[in-house]
Amino acid sequence: MTYQWSSKKVLVTGGASFIGSTLVDALLRRGASVRVVDDFSSGAYRNIRDVVEDGSVELIRGDLRHPDVARASVDGIDVLFHLAADHGGRGYVDLHQYACSTNLGLDSILFKAALDAGVEQITYASSGCIYPLYLQGNPEETLYITEDMEKAPGYDPDGLYGLAKMAGELTLRAMHKEFGVKTASCRYFTVYGPRGVENHAVIAMIARAFLRQDPFYVWGSGEQIRNWTYVDDIVEGTIRAAERIEDGTAVNLGTMERVRVIDAVHMVCELAGYEPEIVRQLDMPVGPMNRVADNSLAKRLLDWEPAVPFAEGLRRTYDWYVSTKTPDEVRAILDFMLTGRGAPPAASEPAGAAAGGSV
Ligand SMILES: NC(=O)c1ccc[n+]([C@@H]2O[C@H](COP(=O)([O-])OP(=O)(O)OC[C@H]3O[C@@H](n4cnc5c(N)ncnc54)[C@H](O)[C@@H]3O)[C@@H](O)[C@H]2O)c1
Repeated sequence: MTYQWSSKKVLVTGGASFIGSTLVDALLRRGASVRVVDDFSSGAYRNIRDVVEDGSVELIRGDLRHPDVARASVDGIDVLFHLAADHGGRGYVDLHQYACSTNLGLDSILFKAALDAGVEQITYASSGCIYPLYLQGNPEETLYITEDMEKAPGYDPDGLYGLAKMAGELTLRAMHKEFGVKTASCRYFTVYGPRGVENHAVIAMIARAFLRQDPFYVWGSGEQIRNWTYVDDIVEGTIRAAERIEDGTAVNLGTMERVRVIDAVHMVCELAGYEPEIVRQLDMPVGPMNRVADNSLAKRLLDWEPAVPFAEGLRRTYDWYVSTKTPDEVRAILDFMLTGRGAPPAASEPAGAAAGGSV
């Protein structure tokens, strides 16, 4: 039976974010009634301005670590997509461990509020960062990570960010088992696309090329392997998980395309039409050397396959970036964003960001 989104009242936490706002647009296209809660600590009002101001989306501006904000957000909600998190790119999650640990509290407060409010279904934005780091050290190995590797032979998640995502997943499995709430977790792998921000590698590369930086700095040796996954594919998989998974099962959402960082850099420079000197910065955070999903479980459970190959997604993302940014604005934020989140104080959005209700 087709899922009836038009009869659902949906909450997207972190709905002003890159992935969250893309999810909001997809849910509106399916006819859902959508509420967003966001504290704009890294999300941007411009991502949801149109749908808030034309009345399609109800916005609550607030910090979900406060129980009253969590309670007001889930009130009357059928389906919850939980994407709010203290999160950034590799530079951020490596260097801000304490901040990432606060996700443990955020998730716990929100899940309790959802349980009390009788929310039917919860889908969680988890991450490839839950997988043991020790499995992912050798770029020579053709490794595809399967879901059952989550604790084989012991937990070794990617810092406190990965640990909190793992705790969130386990909490949702327990909520299904003990209270019958329908739950699902989606393990996103290195997402990129329009509305992405410079603290993630692909957007940082595009930003450097947009500024025609020469030399062009690459973090690490460039031998790191990733499976960059286009945001529309991630959103499609997330919605299907909400429709089809009830028992807290976690699925990888990631392509099986293996791309080295250095190859991505060359592709970006080719799109920009220049050939800078490439300088490797071996002392910068790089994350695991080899992280690529096996996505066969998502194929089986969700009939999901990524539709956008990296070369195509990169071209779309590059075109979006250069048509929506100016060199001056990118120059003003890039250094901060490489290891930060949100915006440096001087670059924060003056108007509109405070629009919408607050609790
Ligand atoms: N981008 C990726 O490659 C990737 C990979 C794996 C998982 N994820 C997960 O996907 C989700 C979305 O990530 P993203 O990359 O789109 O951007 P993001 O990290 O900016 O999204 C987080 C959103 O939550 C909001 N937020 C943070 N703390 C909050 C709080 N206490 N109360 C209310 N709102 C709060 C932020 O303002 C932002 O809009 C996150 O949960 C992230 O951990 C992302």
